[in-house]
Amino acid sequence: MASQLEDGPVTSGFEDIRLINDSLPELNLDEIDLSLNFLGKDLQYPLMVNALTGGTDQALNINRSLARMALKYGLPMAVGSQSVALEFPEATMSFSIVREVNPNGIILANLNAAAGVKEALQAVRMISADALQLHFNVVQELAMAEGDRNFKGIRENIRQIVKECPVPVIAKEVGFGFSREAANSLMEAGIEIFDCSGQGGTNFILIEDQRGGHFAGELNSWGIPTAISLIELLQLPTRRVIASGGIRSAADAAKALALGADLVGMAAPLLKTFLSGGLEALDQSLSGFFYRLKAVFLMSGARNLHEIRQKPLIILREIAEYLRLRGIDPSYWARR
Ligand SMILES: Cc1cc2nc3c(=O)[nH]c(=O)nc-3n(C[C@H](O)[C@H](O)[C@H](O)COP(=O)(O)O)c2cc1C
Repeated sequence: MASQLEDGPVTSGFEDIRLINDSLPELNLDEIDLSLNFLGKDLQYPLMVNALTGGTDQALNINRSLARMALKYGLPMAVGSQSVALEFPEATMSFSIVREVNPNGIILANLNAAAGVKEALQAVRMISADALQLHFNVVQELAMAEGDRNFKGIRENIRQIVKECPVPVIAKEVGFGFSREAANSLMEAGIEIFDCSGQGGTNFILIEDQRGGHFAGELNSWGIPTAISLIELLQLPTRRVIASGGIRSAADAAKALALGADLVGMAAPLLKTFLSGGLEALDQSLSGFFYRLKAVFLMSGARNLHEIRQKPLIILREIAEYLRLRGIDPSYWARR
């Protein structure tokens, strides 16, 4: 599984965004506070374990281990698509293990945006979810030899799910990014939280091409880089956005948070680290990541999430040009 998870060829865009070094921060690393409130619960770190897996024995083991780390560091965690457990109830355990390991944590259910209301409610109940992620994967379906071809009626479907669902519904891409137009349309259907999951990390076109998909290597660059999708969504009145897709370093995460993301999400890097080095490697990798994230906050002169959101960001090159052409002035962040 891990060998298929190559990033690229297009990057997330965070390399074109800079925080400014503060040589005189007057801060102690111990006082850097990354805490936040998300879905009504207090969290120590602004990182989510994003949707990955479920359904098989290997997935049970992976989800149990990811859930242990989510418990240890107090991280929200999304399970992979639960459609398999709705069809084959014996697969339920590979998802419900996440709630068993972490009874009070934030756990997100996950289904395709085309799922019915009944399935959505079942998925939420299965893991006593705090929220439901509905994933939008039009690109992946079209790249897949056996994927869906008809995407009509999804917005109305979302409206029904939002109406009936007892917990918040999050619209989530899977690596191709939402535009502000798509997000606007989803807001009209009742969505208030987005996971932009943009381009620059896991690329399902590459994955599907390796499985004999229909894009034949021609469309590998399709999508909206995460930095752009994030900034577009943050222009909307909702402003509750999770930044994911190609978050690969503490610097990427700090920039996303400085732009205004509520938190960042990571999927493939956590899976790869676990598959190659087990729970200990994952633990070390997370603890190193949080150390570096605090370091970037300190080096930017920010004590907490509120302060980093007021620090200047320099948006350069292609990302700046793209934003300008979309009517968003990138110099706003440089001067704030
Ligand atoms: C192996 C694998 C399985 C995934 N399965 C799901 C899924 O079931 N549901 C979903 O919404 N996203 C799924 N994703 C997408 C991730 O949640 C995430 O949006 C995407 O990988 C981009 O983040 P990354 O670059 O940090 O991997 C999967 C990703 C990977 C790598």
